[in-house]
Amino acid sequence: NASPPRMIPQRKMTYYNIKHPGLNPDSSREQVRVPNVIALVGLPARGKTYISHKLCRYLNWIGIKTRAFNVGDYRRQACDFEKEGLADFFDHSNERAVRIRDECARHAMEDMGRYLDNKEGEVAVFDATNTTRQRRQMLVDFCKSDERDPKFRIFFIESVCDDMDIIESNITEVKISSPDYKGKMSEDQAKQDFLMRIEKYKAQYEPMEEDKDDELSFIKVINAGRSFFVHNVFGHVQSRVVYFLMNIHLLPRSIYLTRHGESEYNKIGRLGGDSPLSENGIIYAQKLKEYFQKEDIHDLRIWSSQKIRAAQSANHLKDLAAHVEYWKVLDEIDAGICEGLTYEDFEARYPKQFAERDKDKYHYRYPSGESYEDLVARLEPVIMELERQSNVLVVSHQAVLRCILAYFDNKIRDELPYLNVPLHTVIKLTPKAYSCQIELFKFKIDAVDTYRAKPTDEPANPTKEMTNGTTHPIGINGTAAKNGVLSASHTPRLVIGQKH
Ligand code: ADP
Ligand code: F6P
Ligand code: PEP
Repeated sequence: NASPPRMIPQRKMTYYNIKHPGLNPDSSREQVRVPNVIALVGLPARGKTYISHKLCRYLNWIGIKTRAFNVGDYRRQACDFEKEGLADFFDHSNERAVRIRDECARHAMEDMGRYLDNKEGEVAVFDATNTTRQRRQMLVDFCKSDERDPKFRIFFIESVCDDMDIIESNITEVKISSPDYKGKMSEDQAKQDFLMRIEKYKAQYEPMEEDKDDELSFIKVINAGRSFFVHNVFGHVQSRVVYFLMNIHLLPRSIYLTRHGESEYNKIGRLGGDSPLSENGIIYAQKLKEYFQKEDIHDLRIWSSQKIRAAQSANHLKDLAAHVEYWKVLDEIDAGICEGLTYEDFEARYPKQFAERDKDKYHYRYPSGESYEDLVARLEPVIMELERQSNVLVVSHQAVLRCILAYFDNKIRDELPYLNVPLHTVIKLTPKAYSCQIELFKFKIDAVDTYRAKPTDEPANPTKEMTNGTTHPIGINGTAAKNGVLSASHTPRLVIGQKH
């Protein structure tokens, strides 16, 4: 019963001219890892920064070190925007401003070059308008080298959008509150100025074209992904980026994460296995149904792991969901030779292994089992599918949900294995323009605390309050809970407790 989830028919995709080098003798050069520059192109408020952030998050999560360089940030540092005359600053006949802007672009480019040269990262995203061929040529020249191989491989992502509803909503959502305007003028004035800025850019905009830009590799994302034009895609990073861009969407929705209810194995501190729910676990599953009844989501999809404890939890929600699917890929981390042991057994039987895990939990692979790194690779198709879908509830396990949460909350690899995903808690993720809103709903049903902190960590504050004060110690045998703390270092942006 693990059929792949179906795609929601939310948009028409037209992709054409998927031209690539094919058997070009140079494609064997792909063996050499050339750092990649991804340069955005497009008028203001076309989602360039949104795409940059999202790509960085995705590429870093799959293990490709990536950083974005935003030319607007350099410009804000270089000059006092108010004195420079607002929209007029972006007029192409304003020679002084053009000089400043070119200078800022060059600084950002040089920082980007250093970042890639120093091997701090493999991919740099150059987030600027790059609306003229001259500016794009400057980037292409920068990426060239004297030798035969390019220094950096460059790929352009152009966002083209003429849907005024999308543009206006983008301006309202992010532009009027940007550092360019915030606290400097009314929202209405900011909006008018931004619309004028767009007009200034339009006067000099040269969109990318197949004929004129034949040598370049690029994708045009048209009207927020209604259609795509893909040209000359080359290599692993570029094709992954294209695939990712073709799967993301802007429709509002939420993703819900929950661990199964407390299991019999959880109660006795054993790792893994396939035990059923405890009495409290069953109560949680029932209460979960009440929670989703209140959420009232007509198209909710539920994806559960195939473990008994997860399936038992998901089955209580069957009547509420458009679909329930059981995915093996959502099963808990395979603890190999440690399956069924407690942490204490693990330490006593395999002290060296235990210490290795504490030293580098992300990369540590259980003998005959998995590491967190393996889990991320296993979960990549789940992330891609979550990107494509609408409202989804994922019923899974501690380690698996840490990986999924780390993707949405942009957490680095060191933090990922220590994120706190407690039992009897729903984590609601709602994507926003440049981030993801995270809400925690903790149920007042006892459960053990399965969190094991990194030994060197400061002890987490066991009584840290949720914002509305509904938090309470969970756990049996006097185990203190780490309520409201997603990770030792994490401050949830928004934490709401609910009584159920
Ligand atoms: P820019 O960097 O082009 O000035 P932003 O990235 O700051 O624009 O705009 C953010 C908004 O763009 C978000 O509200 C997001 O919903 C929207 N957005 C994301 N992708 C696209 C796209 N491909 N086309 C148009 N709008 C988009
Ligand atoms: O203890 C519950 C559990 O889901 C185990 O099945 C699993 O091995 C463990 O949590 C993962 O957490 P950690 O990686 O912190 O040991
Ligand atoms: C900016 O200054 O906000 C900007 C994106 O710069 P440019 O259009 O020069 O790339």
